[in-house]
Amino acid sequence: MSYPNIQEFIEDLEKENELLGKGTYGVVYKMKTKRIINPELEKQQDQVPFVGQYLAVKMMDAKTEKSFSTIQKEFLILKSLPKQHPNIIKLYKSYAWANQITKTYTLVLVMELADKNLMKEIEERIALKKYFSDDELHHIFLQCIQTLNDIKIHSNIYHRDIKPENILMKSSGLQILLSDFGVSRKLMKEKLPTIAGTLVGTPSYLSPILWNAFESGQFQIANINKIVHNFEKSDVYSLGITLLQTTLLLSSQIQKLNAGAEGQLRTQTLLKGVQNPRIQNILTRMLDHDEKQRASFQELIQLLNEPIPKQIVSNKKPIFSNVEPKIGIKEQFSLQAKMKFEKNQTEIDQTFNNQKLDQQQEKIEQVDNLETTHETKIIQEAIQNDEKEK
Ligand SMILES: Nc1ncnc2c1ncn2[C@@H]1O[C@H](COP(=O)(O)OP(=O)(O)O)[C@@H](O)[C@H]1O
Ligand SMILES: [Mg+2]
Repeated sequence: MSYPNIQEFIEDLEKENELLGKGTYGVVYKMKTKRIINPELEKQQDQVPFVGQYLAVKMMDAKTEKSFSTIQKEFLILKSLPKQHPNIIKLYKSYAWANQITKTYTLVLVMELADKNLMKEIEERIALKKYFSDDELHHIFLQCIQTLNDIKIHSNIYHRDIKPENILMKSSGLQILLSDFGVSRKLMKEKLPTIAGTLVGTPSYLSPILWNAFESGQFQIANINKIVHNFEKSDVYSLGITLLQTTLLLSSQIQKLNAGAEGQLRTQTLLKGVQNPRIQNILTRMLDHDEKQRASFQELIQLLNEPIPKQIVSNKKPIFSNVEPKIGIKEQFSLQAKMKFEKNQTEIDQTFNNQKLDQQQEKIEQVDNLETTHETKIIQEAIQNDEKEK
């Protein structure tokens, strides 16, 4: 495969000497374009970086041709992801060259510039003691899950290194941009899903199956291919830890939640601290240590799009899930989810007609069952509003 070379790189971009981040595989700099860097993109209007636009430039070094082909995977994966997806970091151009003196190979990926990563956002909020609101959490949860599902459906690719550092954000409107597909893997239908001979993912975010393998040293041994796990469910777990961290604004308390019975207990304790029952349920479904019981992307999307009981809907104050379904944002990639949602919606509408008589009773029961919480207040107000309307 041939790439534009170092000469073209120097002519295209100007270094700002601002280090955006450093990860396991690369160093990322902020740079500015000196000219139109990719005229090919000109056809897709909104994809063309203008002259003087700031971009993120990820530089990765490899010592051998073999390791070069490993880092090249990220480029190939980024290229095969759905284009124009609002929640996937855009790749504008790539370069590569070999350095004869140091005998290294360099691969450069030029990407859309994000404002920060989710970990930074969490840290800022910890400092300010400012939790995400229920609506904000709904928005973040849905974007992450929907995007991972879109990637699965479109490209059959799983991320495999989901953590707050790899979820980038635009400051405005908490838009998330999924990034760092360095260890992602395309699932080959004919092969069992296995992991390669090296550690993929980050220990705290590894699913319990992968954590066990990691801890017992199986990541090192040759017959690693015996560790069979479900890629989708492993991603669901990593995202579950990430979102638990986001919901409760946790910094270090997420270690070893994936480790055995003790990890399970600690997970349950943390989950009890999640105020909103819907968020709590979704996180519980994501963090199930039993892979089979753990929710799939599709189930999670359904849980997120479930309309909340009508008495709460009639209240103007939004709470978790009582927001317009956000699937409209990227309908072109989310047809499946959309269709499923609509089907679900019709079924629910029908059920509503049949259940009208039970509603008042249900409301009273709900109020009785709840302690004097935020939810109780909302339901009580909803009943009052309902009665006023009658
Ligand atoms: N497009 C980008 N815009 C802004 N910051 C970025 C961008 N890409 C990466 N970063 C920052 O650099 C860090 C490391 O980048 P990443 O792609 O995750 O590298 P690695 O594969 O080495 O982990 C990220 O956590 C993020 O803070
Ligand atoms: Mg990273």
